[in-house]
Amino acid sequence: MQIGYLGHAGFVVETEGAVVVADPWVSRHGAFGSSWMQLPQNHHLAPLVRQKLEDPRKPRFVYVSHEHGDHFDRDFLASIGRRDFTAVVPRFRRPELVERLRATRCRVIACADGEKVPIPGGYLRLYVQDAGLNRDSGLLVKADGQAFLNLNDCKIHDRLGQIASEEGPIDVFTAQFSGAIWHPTCYEYSPKQYAAISRRKMFGKFEAVARALESVRPRLFLASAGPACFLDPALVHLNFEEMNIFPRAQKFFAYLRKRLSGLTSALVEPMPGDMLDVASGKLMVLASERLDEERFEQYVRGYAARMEDLFQGRRAPPPADLPAVLDRLREELLHKLSRLDLRERVGVALYAWLEELPERVLRIEFPSQRIEEVSAVRDEPRYTFKVRAADALEVLERKMTWEEFFLSFRFRLSRSPDEYDPVLHGFLALEADDLPSLCESIRQVEANKERAVIAAGSARYAVHRYCPHQGADLTEGWVEGGHLLVCPRHRWQFDLEKQGRCTLNNSSLCAERLPDNVEPLPGTVRKVEDEPQPLVALNTAS
Ligand code: FES
Repeated sequence: MQIGYLGHAGFVVETEGAVVVADPWVSRHGAFGSSWMQLPQNHHLAPLVRQKLEDPRKPRFVYVSHEHGDHFDRDFLASIGRRDFTAVVPRFRRPELVERLRATRCRVIACADGEKVPIPGGYLRLYVQDAGLNRDSGLLVKADGQAFLNLNDCKIHDRLGQIASEEGPIDVFTAQFSGAIWHPTCYEYSPKQYAAISRRKMFGKFEAVARALESVRPRLFLASAGPACFLDPALVHLNFEEMNIFPRAQKFFAYLRKRLSGLTSALVEPMPGDMLDVASGKLMVLASERLDEERFEQYVRGYAARMEDLFQGRRAPPPADLPAVLDRLREELLHKLSRLDLRERVGVALYAWLEELPERVLRIEFPSQRIEEVSAVRDEPRYTFKVRAADALEVLERKMTWEEFFLSFRFRLSRSPDEYDPVLHGFLALEADDLPSLCESIRQVEANKERAVIAAGSARYAVHRYCPHQGADLTEGWVEGGHLLVCPRHRWQFDLEKQGRCTLNNSSLCAERLPDNVEPLPGTVRKVEDEPQPLVALNTAS
């Protein structure tokens, strides 16, 4: 098996009998209205991948992990001349990915969680996560006696032990180590708060992948699904912040080397165009340029200059009829409200306005399903959302989905108190039609009251086994600081000494400390977690 790296989460895996192309993101316009660009630049690889997919000597498969534009490059896939390849995709409740691919006249296999697709000499196996707010999947390529597990952005860390025991040994493993979300990036925080939140999130993610490595124990870990590059003049500063949620591979590797002192996996940072020979573990260095940390800023400035044309249109003056844009925004938010079954749970008001019309603010009250216009934000528990009219039109005119718009980072949010509310978050980031299934997912997770016993040092606690966020199995989590139970998926923390209350919001595991001399009831789960090593303090320099 040979694994060619395409940049970001993209690979061309060549086995003796098949070619598998995973998440090829190579279009020059990047993703999310060009707010995300490939890092490093990889557009020159598009003809090579096209050639692989048009070469009929072996069966060819294209795996698309989920709908986000940095994984599902529609323009590139539509440009493949021969349509006799097979697209292998996860079967989500939302059928968009399957429908869009079918419309391009290729064969599509939509896989349920754990389903296998035979290929010559082995199979592909998909792991699917479809939790209302998040849709994603991971891919196992197993052929010719070798195995490559590509998790990309899919947060199934609580299932990795089981996957490794079913499918192991895993030769090559890769998982996202860098952030890809608008919190705290697009929130109004002081520089100190912003740095502290970013630091917590960055190290939390590093720790989750370190633990994934301990579960999977691959021969090689490949750095992929790292940060995007931000070349829009309005976003370019994000590349150079001293602390944010977008660390590059060298910083992550420095963490791993300190955190996992007995680490036996080789850590490899390929560049787009490099090729890994799995049998020998050798990386063939074929890329014509390598990202040099010393000259990173110079690289990004040069890249931005080459891509300047993508952003020229963004300097246009705002649309003339701003009140009409605000009216459309109000209509859209009202429509979303009508589909949000759990709106009575949102206890804060949402204020939304156009940057160019700051004196006309929409105040959304969730339980009463009302939107009124006010002249200013009131001092009360609140969420705020501010957007340029032209950017709002992108989503109101359906050129982007709401999720794509939020991933474009072209807006500002704030919240007081600073608490995450999954219902409000879903209201903002999802399409109206997806809100009922989000609410249903939340209800399903809440209905599962199975209890487990967690050991934290010498103390034992009975807790809800499944995370109230998206249902991860908390017995696969870990304990930090002697009392904080950490969820393995998105790393919410639950304070066992405060009845299992979440440190980010008011959700709870209803933790009860058990007397020292009482054994867990039969049927409960006992997970003894060693006291973990404290998170390693690293300098920001790698
Ligand atoms: S499932 Fe998201 S934090 Fe637990």
